[in-house]
Amino acid sequence: MKALFPIFNSHPALVYLDSNATSQKPQAVIEAIDQYYRSENANVHRGVYQLSENATRIFEESRLRIAAYINAESVEVIFTRGTTEAINIVAQSGGQAFLRPGDEIVLTVCEHHSNIVPWQIAAERHGVTIKYIPLTADRRLDLEAARELITAKTRMVSLGHVSNVLGVIHPVREIIAMAKAVGALTMLDGAQGIPHLKVDVKELDCDFYAFSGHKAFGPTGIGVLYGKKALLNAMPPYQGGGDMIEKVTLQGSTWNELPSKFEAGTPHIEGAIGLGVAIDFLKSLPLEKLLAHDQHLGRLLTQKLREEFPRVKILVEPGEDWVGTVTIVHENIHPHDLAAVCDSDNIAIRAGHHCAQPLMEVLGVTSTARVSPGLYNDEADIERFLAALRKAEKLFLS
Ligand code: ALA
Repeated sequence: MKALFPIFNSHPALVYLDSNATSQKPQAVIEAIDQYYRSENANVHRGVYQLSENATRIFEESRLRIAAYINAESVEVIFTRGTTEAINIVAQSGGQAFLRPGDEIVLTVCEHHSNIVPWQIAAERHGVTIKYIPLTADRRLDLEAARELITAKTRMVSLGHVSNVLGVIHPVREIIAMAKAVGALTMLDGAQGIPHLKVDVKELDCDFYAFSGHKAFGPTGIGVLYGKKALLNAMPPYQGGGDMIEKVTLQGSTWNELPSKFEAGTPHIEGAIGLGVAIDFLKSLPLEKLLAHDQHLGRLLTQKLREEFPRVKILVEPGEDWVGTVTIVHENIHPHDLAAVCDSDNIAIRAGHHCAQPLMEVLGVTSTARVSPGLYNDEADIERFLAALRKAEKLFLS
């Protein structure tokens, strides 16, 4: 698999263990973007000349492929800048359409900031209260507590498909069922879900699903908001501008149909094309086998850390409901120092609060070091990380 990713030709010694931050890009995605600028570049939905019509066709074909992959209608696939913008669209436009004073929004304590802050802004605007599903001792979502929190007052339940810090696959079907039983809307932040799991929005039966291209082998700056057609139609536009209008007069404007209503301005054309190719790449992968591969590497690392590094606290227990992410805190070495030592050996890991400060508080830490394996990693990469950890202990403990 590594051979498909040109970055490893540019950096042969690189051990990339930060796939939860962003994935590396396969040759096919890079080529599609290159090809677009070399021979297909024109604005979409605007020109009556061949080049523009061709760009529009490739752009829209990409949407069709993405829609088919997640089992949605193409009008339900809105191109966004990423997961963050997708959640903001639902919180702002959906907030205006669906939230009323006294309503409640239910999130979880392990959300990324992008699935907390947009709701806090909406909650303030609409007089709504936010409640958070807590974790159990083994750092899984507390379903008993969720049952108590999701009530007739709940209007929206939004949670990550997979935690970016813990790598835990959340029991989204159970939580969606709880939300539906009380008539609440549901949204999944799929930023960490789409790279690991086959997503079928009809089968999940969520109302909204958001994901980013760059975590799933695609380019940065492009993502998708899936929403059920009736709900998207009921929502006001998110931004005004070109393409999202039906008619503009000096007195007022009317809106274009879906998906254009939510896509003001010239879109990220090469991003959407690159994402279409990334989705083809995902489709070609044996995702279940790759999940098992990432879990194997995560388990191997966890086991070796337990055997050899008593000063390392592991913040998540491996399980079947987990994508192999290993998040740790060392008693004596700050996560940033550990990441810097890793970097001196060409090993990329992430250190910090991972845009999940409330979760850090729940875990009783301010930051962690996170190893997130992907399909281009192998056991030798785990050994390289362990060697860097030995080196860091030598540096900091002697
Ligand atoms: N959300 C990305 C991460 O978890 C950036 O690292």
